Amino acid sequence: MNVLLGVTGGIAAYRAAELVSLAVKRGHSVRVVMTANATRFVGALSFEAMSGHAVLTDTFADPLAHIEWAKWGEVAVVAPASANVLGKLACGLADDALSTVLMALPRGRRVVVAPAMNTEMWLNPVVIRNLRWLEELERYVIVAPTEKRLACGDVGPGGLAEPADILAAVEAAGA
Ligand SMILES: Cc1cc2nc3c(=O)[nH]c(=O)nc-3n(C[C@H](O)[C@H](O)[C@H](O)COP(=O)(O)O)c2cc1C
Repeated sequence: MNVLLGVTGGIAAYRAAELVSLAVKRGHSVRVVMTANATRFVGALSFEAMSGHAVLTDTFADPLAHIEWAKWGEVAVVAPASANVLGKLACGLADDALSTVLMALPRGRRVVVAPAMNTEMWLNPVVIRNLRWLEELERYVIVAPTEKRLACGDVGPGGLAEPADILAAVEAAGA
């Protein structure tokens, strides 16, 4: 399966590498789109080495990439999905490479979203509303975060789901 992976700017960005590795081992082709803020947490190089493909971060570097990548992806996954990207998806914004590729996804393609954030962010009413909005659409499948001691020291929901569980959701959504 052709899997488009979106990585956003959060502490759990490094765990997206584990997801690429698992997906490639299961025989999937993976292309990674990173937000500019994701590149502050992890470098594109690891994703390029593991996926065997250049990482897309700049919509304007190649004028047709966002359309071509959107057509290529049989299924998309955003892991980790920041509170910011959830808001952008819920409101229909397309102001960077990741949100633009996701906006251009052909009809019928699904997007698995695995949020990860601080517990207060996760419990913020606007985040809750944005997730409800996304769930109402046919397109989005949410993989709920886990409850644990988070990197910020808080204990509660907000930890990225296990990469194996995210991959299982991706395989189900793309089938
Ligand atoms: C150290 C640090 C850790 C962060 N971790 C998260 C996180 O886990 N989840 C989240 O939604 N935002 C987190 N943020 C905030 C986002 O990086 C910020 O909202 C950013 O604008 C998201 O950009 P993006 O969605 O374009 O990647 C963190 C910020 C910092 C400085």
